[in-house]
Amino acid sequence: MLKSHSCGELRENHAGQRVTLAGWVHRRRDHGGKVFIDLRDREGLVQVVFNPQISQEAYQVAGSLRGEYVIQVRGEVVPRPKGTENPQLATGAIEVIAEDALILNPSKTPPFYISDDEEVEESLCLKNRYLYLRRPRMKDNLIVRYRATKFIRDFLDGRGFVEIETPILIKSTPEGARDYLVPSRISPGRFYALPQSPQQLKQILMVAGFEKYFQIARCFRDEDLRADRQPEFTQLDLEMSFIDAKDILQLIEELFTSLVETVRPEMRLLKPFSCLSYKEVVEKYGTDKPDIRFGLELRDISDIAASTDFQVFRSAIDHGGKVKAICVPGCGHYTRHQIDELINLAKGLGARGLTTVAFTGQTTGTGEVKSAAAKYLTPDQLGQMASRLEAKPGDLLLVVADKSEVVNKTLDGLRNEMAGRLNLADGKLLAFTFVVDFPLLEWNEATNHWETMHHPFTAPREEDMLLLDTEPGEVHGQHYDVVCNGCELGSGSIRVHNRELQERIFSLLGYGKEEADSRFGGLLEALEYGAPPHGGIAIGLDRLVMLLVGERSIREVIAFPKNQNGVDMMLDSPSYVDKSQLDELNLKLKHEVLHSQ
Ligand code: AMO
Repeated sequence: MLKSHSCGELRENHAGQRVTLAGWVHRRRDHGGKVFIDLRDREGLVQVVFNPQISQEAYQVAGSLRGEYVIQVRGEVVPRPKGTENPQLATGAIEVIAEDALILNPSKTPPFYISDDEEVEESLCLKNRYLYLRRPRMKDNLIVRYRATKFIRDFLDGRGFVEIETPILIKSTPEGARDYLVPSRISPGRFYALPQSPQQLKQILMVAGFEKYFQIARCFRDEDLRADRQPEFTQLDLEMSFIDAKDILQLIEELFTSLVETVRPEMRLLKPFSCLSYKEVVEKYGTDKPDIRFGLELRDISDIAASTDFQVFRSAIDHGGKVKAICVPGCGHYTRHQIDELINLAKGLGARGLTTVAFTGQTTGTGEVKSAAAKYLTPDQLGQMASRLEAKPGDLLLVVADKSEVVNKTLDGLRNEMAGRLNLADGKLLAFTFVVDFPLLEWNEATNHWETMHHPFTAPREEDMLLLDTEPGEVHGQHYDVVCNGCELGSGSIRVHNRELQERIFSLLGYGKEEADSRFGGLLEALEYGAPPHGGIAIGLDRLVMLLVGERSIREVIAFPKNQNGVDMMLDSPSYVDKSQLDELNLKLKHEVLHSQ
């Protein structure tokens, strides 16, 4: 080993010991005829002092050091002089007096500081990922990721689960995104698909009799990227036989509770986890992934709005829409400019506009009200609105009148925006919520087809089975989501476990018999050989770790993420390939693509 100790492990009880350290120059300060280096390795920082009176040679070396040089230092650990201790640093009670120093490798000047956590332009931190990962925050994030993954493995092992790998070169599994395809050289014209999830394979493992399976599984989806989406990401994927939905939710609640308490004890949990129906969350929060750390709940005021002379409200209701509102505490003083900003935000979210009602006066109804709609609303109607929303003097109502989906989407966006402005969401709180009772299907106007809310393998609720042929839209699925702080963390369901029902569902979704056989024949056949009742769930591991460490993007918890366009900027991928490779795969690029290279 080139070192006897790690930088971060040295404490007062090491005083008097001679140590050899190796690491990176984090910071260098030159004063009082001495050079001070913060030396960094994976375990942390320690101050090394280069004093010419102790070693002229080491002092000379220190003179030529720059940020990120890799060095080896030998010296004695001593307590820091009184008054110079640094309580912020784990090693702040001591320093190392250098006797020998060796430059192991110099470094070019990095394009951004490693030693502070200032935001860096995304392309720089993706291209120079090895430098960005040197930042202590990023290193800590990846270590939490490792600890969380290990905890999950141990926890599930303790519950009798077996980890089984499934292939990466598979056949298309529908999870709602485009597939990444891999051409086969041996079978010209044929393609593998990279798994969007191991869904069908984990079900087949249940047919094979494994009963409790899990996998830390890599998944691939060619879809539009966002802060919480990457083209390749990791799921904690699990499946169990002979269980019902309650068993899965209980397992996840126990897993997450002990995970947070062990790996991130500084975070708090809302216990027990709440469990809300899809209908309830959409009514209250306008979304199926609500952040329940704060209130600002949506209230339906369509009945009050219908009795007013306000055309905006009336027309939404006449066209089958809704009028809903949220009450934002203490924002009744908002200026014209601030209100215009909110109106623009509402428009950006898809609404035609936004009505605001500021209760500036004494009390509801009788007090002063500021609103462009005030002249169309009677004091009684204003009073009813205030009381429905529990508005107090000084509060601001944000009211949206439109098609139900537009109202919900807009108020969901405004609710999150206002919670952010008012700092209502506790950053140390993890509010896990189960969402249940989803409809099995939703009608797609564009394609004129039923589509599944989850995936086609989800079982309908037993009691709704009779409606499957007559009123498919009324059938609920045995599907559950787990949501945390406004983020969809995972989804799962109890599955269809017999061929006949699975074929009925495929046919409702518009798959002909032949298509169903060619796409899902493997699973359909397996269901005929004593498939046990089974169900499971998949948790987005990147999103889980993002929440555990309080980041806003999963890119901050993935070692080598892709950029917004799915490009690996460090390795420059995707990239062009030789014609000979294409020939081998029997592929030919279109003329225009060829000439744009
Ligand atoms: P679903 O498609 O809902 O379900 O995915 C489960 C969870 O995976 C995470 N996730 C993603 N994370 C990062 N980037 C992405 N592009 C991305 N897409 C999904 C989310 C999501 O909640 N086979 C089913 C599960 C089952 O039924 O057991 C499935 O994959 O956190």
